[in-house]
Amino acid sequence: MVHTEPGRLSLLPTFAAITRASMVPPGPIATAPLDPRAATAFPGGVNLTPDTTAAADAYLTDTLIAPDEALQNALAAQRGADLPDIEVTALSGKLLNLLIRMSGAKRVLEIGTLGAYSTIWMARAVGDDGHVTTIEAEPDIAKVAQQNLNNAGVAERVEIKIGRGEHVLPTLVGAEPYDFVFIDADKESNTLYLDYAVKLGRSGTVVVVDNIGREGEIVRPDTTDPKVQGTRAGLEMLGRDPRFDATAFQTVGSKGWDGTAIAVIV
Ligand code: DHB
Ligand code: MG
Repeated sequence: MVHTEPGRLSLLPTFAAITRASMVPPGPIATAPLDPRAATAFPGGVNLTPDTTAAADAYLTDTLIAPDEALQNALAAQRGADLPDIEVTALSGKLLNLLIRMSGAKRVLEIGTLGAYSTIWMARAVGDDGHVTTIEAEPDIAKVAQQNLNNAGVAERVEIKIGRGEHVLPTLVGAEPYDFVFIDADKESNTLYLDYAVKLGRSGTVVVVDNIGREGEIVRPDTTDPKVQGTRAGLEMLGRDPRFDATAFQTVGSKGWDGTAIAVIV
């Protein structure tokens, strides 16, 4: 609906001129080289396929995320140690980093360290007056993670707690509340981890849950996969439990079709 008070419309060109004036002056536009998959990705138009989504992910990563030696080295060490290649993507690591900075979080709890790739992204976000506690069930994996944290120069602000979440989390009760909790471990325990996020957090604590899409398996009615059942139970808890206010989004890209849930503790 256009309001027709006198003078109203005449403001529009002024607004457009201001917008133009504030734009970056024309010049050469640097474009990241397209991922080779893009060249063959569009045979009959733009389709949603593993190739096109991976190519788009590569483009977004090249365009938005600066090459980072510490993170690349952490991934190489993780691969060298034969850890599964299930760490978050660079784009998702950056999302965690930005959410921490946007919310001003200083105390972060991560459940599921793996090679500490996500841990490094988050440790950078809390700054040198912040702290990350990260829980890893497997001692051999924790060794790789510790080495990666040392090499990335963030070991001083990170503590790895070795043990299963169900055993370590009760030992954290009573400490200063966590401002941000990232749940990325065994999916069967997601409801337990969400319950601890509330116990260890405060009103306003941000909670992020990885892997909530699982290639769409979350809507397979007859699933017997305990990971899917755990994921669903976590999502249903986020929707139903009045201690949370949550949303979720699906993702496609270099790690297939999955998703992330984001909640705040009420
Ligand atoms: C699985 C776990 C993850 O944390 C992930 O990001 C991808 C897959 C898994 O256990 O299948
Ligand atoms: Mg994960």
